Amino acid sequence: MNDNQARRLVVLGTGGTIAGRATQANDNVGYVAGQVAVSELVAMVPILADCPVDVEQVAQINSKDMVLSVWQALAQRVAAHLDRPEVAGIVITHGTDTIEETAFVLQTLLMPSKPVVLTCAMRPATALVPDGPQNLSDAVAVALHPQASGVVVVCAGRIHGALDVAKVHPYRTDPFGSGDAGDLGCVEEARLRMFRPWPQAVSRGTHDAARLRSLMRVTALPRVELMFSHAGADGEMVRALLSHSPAGAQRLRGIVVAGTGNGTVHDDLLIALKQAQARGVDVVVASRCAQGRVVPHPGQPLPDSAGLSPVKARLALALQLLES
Ligand code: SIN
Repeated sequence: MNDNQARRLVVLGTGGTIAGRATQANDNVGYVAGQVAVSELVAMVPILADCPVDVEQVAQINSKDMVLSVWQALAQRVAAHLDRPEVAGIVITHGTDTIEETAFVLQTLLMPSKPVVLTCAMRPATALVPDGPQNLSDAVAVALHPQASGVVVVCAGRIHGALDVAKVHPYRTDPFGSGDAGDLGCVEEARLRMFRPWPQAVSRGTHDAARLRSLMRVTALPRVELMFSHAGADGEMVRALLSHSPAGAQRLRGIVVAGTGNGTVHDDLLIALKQAQARGVDVVVASRCAQGRVVPHPGQPLPDSAGLSPVKARLALALQLLES
C-alpha cells in the first residue's frame, strides 16, 4: 500500500509520441517520436507545478524499437525510486506501440507496492491539440492516489491493468482496451473512480528484488519466437528456426503461436511445433482473437497462455525461462 505521507513523484521519460515532434502542427502521423525532453513535458502540466518531482530521461526512443537494455535501465531506476520513502509513485512516459509489453515486464518482475503509472499520447507534443499533457496530468493523479499500487497504463482518462491492457486501435486518442477484464478505473477531473482492485503487489518491501536481479544479469532474454497460425500455414518457419538455432545464449528456447479461435493450429504447423517440443523448445498457444482467451479443454495439443495475449505470452515465457 502507498504511504500516505509520501508526496514526492518521479517522472521517467522513455520517448514515444508523447515526446514526438512534427514539422506541421496539423500532422498527427508524420512526426518523429522521442524528440522532446521529459522535463519539457513535465513543464506543460499545471498539476506538477505544486508537487515535488524528480525527472529523469531514461531513454528517448520510438517504443517499436524497445530493447532489453532499456527495460533493464528502466526497471533499475523504478526499483531505486520505489525504495525512497518520500516517493509516493512513479510516472513513466512511453510510446503507445509497446507500452503493454513494458507494463507487463515491470508488473511481472517488480510487482510494486507503490503505483508505477505508464502514460503516453497518440498525437505528438507539437500537435494542434496534443493529448499528452492531459494523459500526463491524469497519470500524476493516479500516482498520487493514496490507495494506488502496481503497474498501470493511463490514457484517455482510463486506467488499465498491466496484465490486460492492449493497444486496439492505431489512430484514435483512446487506443487501449482491457478486454473482458475491463478497465481498472477512470480519472475524472483528477479524481479516481475505481471499478476493480489494483494489480497484485509484493507482500513485503516495495518490489520483488530477486526477480529484478534475474533480469539484470543477462545480456539477452531467452529467445522466444512468436508466430501466427492462419489459412495456408505450414511448418516451414518452425523447421527453419530449428535448423538455424545457434548454440549458447541465443538458442531457440520457446515458440508462442497465436492460434485461430480457441487456440487451434493448422495441422502442418502443429506437426512442426511438436517436433520443436521434442527438441526441448517450450511451445505455448494463445488466441489470435482480439478478445477473450483460450478456453482450456482435455486433449488440447499444446499448453495455452492462461489468458495472456500472444505478445504477453511471449514475454511471460521468456521471463519464466530466465529463472530456469
Ligand atoms: C511509439 O510507440 O514510440 C510511437 C507511437 C506512439 O507513441 O503512439
